[in-house]
Amino acid sequence: VLKSIEILSNLSRIDKIVFDGVVFDDDHNETEDFYKLLKTLSETELDNFLSLFPKDIDLDDYRKGAGNSRPVTEDELGILDQKFVDIAGKSQNKRKELEQNTIRVREQLMEYREVLKADFKHYENAITDQTAGIEVPPAQKAVSAGAEVYTLPEIDTAIFTETDIYACLNNRRSRRSFKEEALSLSELSFLLWATQGVKRKSPDNRFSTRTVPSGGSRHPFETYLAVHDVTGLKPGIYRYQPFDNQLVFLFPVDDLRNKTGKAALDQKFVGNCAVTFIWSAIPYRMEWRYTLDSRKIILQDSGHLCQNLYIACEAIACGTCAIGAYDQKLFDELLKLDGTDEFVVYVAPVGKVDKPAPAVKSTVDELKRYCGVYRCKEKMLKREILQRNGSLFYSRGEGSESELEYIGADKFSMADADATLTFSIDGSSWKMRLEIDGETSLEFTAREE
Ligand SMILES: Cc1cc2nc3c(=O)[nH]c(=O)nc-3n(C[C@H](O)[C@H](O)[C@H](O)COP(=O)(O)O)c2cc1C
Repeated sequence: VLKSIEILSNLSRIDKIVFDGVVFDDDHNETEDFYKLLKTLSETELDNFLSLFPKDIDLDDYRKGAGNSRPVTEDELGILDQKFVDIAGKSQNKRKELEQNTIRVREQLMEYREVLKADFKHYENAITDQTAGIEVPPAQKAVSAGAEVYTLPEIDTAIFTETDIYACLNNRRSRRSFKEEALSLSELSFLLWATQGVKRKSPDNRFSTRTVPSGGSRHPFETYLAVHDVTGLKPGIYRYQPFDNQLVFLFPVDDLRNKTGKAALDQKFVGNCAVTFIWSAIPYRMEWRYTLDSRKIILQDSGHLCQNLYIACEAIACGTCAIGAYDQKLFDELLKLDGTDEFVVYVAPVGKVDKPAPAVKSTVDELKRYCGVYRCKEKMLKREILQRNGSLFYSRGEGSESELEYIGADKFSMADADATLTFSIDGSSWKMRLEIDGETSLEFTAREE
């Protein structure tokens, strides 16, 4: 057993998550098997096992997996031994393959860097389709005859839960778990407008300016939705028609949530949401003008879509997460795209997220008992202090707040925190001083009205 353990721990130097192509993480049963085996070790055996791992590997999970330790039985030792030998045997080949691939990858790195550089000469040094007089391609796909079309509601500002741009930007983060709550059509309409909404257009719908910028205003994307839970829409695949502010129902898909999660390399939250945004690129829209330079511009453009989605979500108590790790073939198949003239480039699940109940502002008298030193979890620049249920919170805009951790005046040490806050009351005015890394960065006083 110990020999097998030693082999396994050596293997762990290759990759601490993937052994022989087997992923050890929370979503895979292999991890459970592995932990089950660890649980059969005595504490001494476990310590021996863990001591064989390289020092830079976080062993906490292995230790947790080995809770409830009891002496290991002969049978269990046999299973453990066999399992480790299996993993070790297969990994010898895997290692060789990995090493060969690594040489190739290193060679390609320099070549790939070129994609990141600007080179606006290609399109000047060749006859482009634009200069050849070929008609500009349509900026929106056509709706097939007889398709089910839904006209989206105009933007209704009553849906906003947060209108402070500072708060939207400051609260933005990637959200990977959503409430089991439907999105309304108004909310969806706002998110579609925020990511691709047309503001000005030519009469033939071939030129537009939108809520996102695009190199040469070429707008090379189509927006598809995997609708799971949106009020008024049956589940299935839809496409947004930005020039008409409409959704076209394309087709239903059995088991859509699971298929979406699977296509995102088993990131299940990508399907466990109200609606998954799936953006495709039609490269020719850009190539018509920019030929070889299109590649970089399309990638730059795609970032704008998703960032606008993040910010717009924050304004309506929704959340999203940019998804770049997905299976190209599975997503193209899910949308029935040909994978050459049009293919998926970016994905983002959207759902409702929890927002704390509106906080109650305190009077100075109520606040007196909270005087002391607090630790902030982040470098805080907003000022409003709120109390609820015996704790102090700082507000970062309507509906968004974080608790201040009381550390008490005597226990205070600057080394403990990035940012600390002292809160004191003098007569009817209160004073707050924020220190970041030992320097006062904000002093604020207020008086009861
Ligand atoms: C291009 C891109 C691709 C990403 N792909 C994934 C992904 O496949 N899965 C995931 O969970 N997060 C993904 N993310 C989210 C990042 O992990 C996240 O933005 C980062 O950890 C910073 O966290 P924040 O967005 O909360 O600030 C991606 C982000 C970007 C910009």
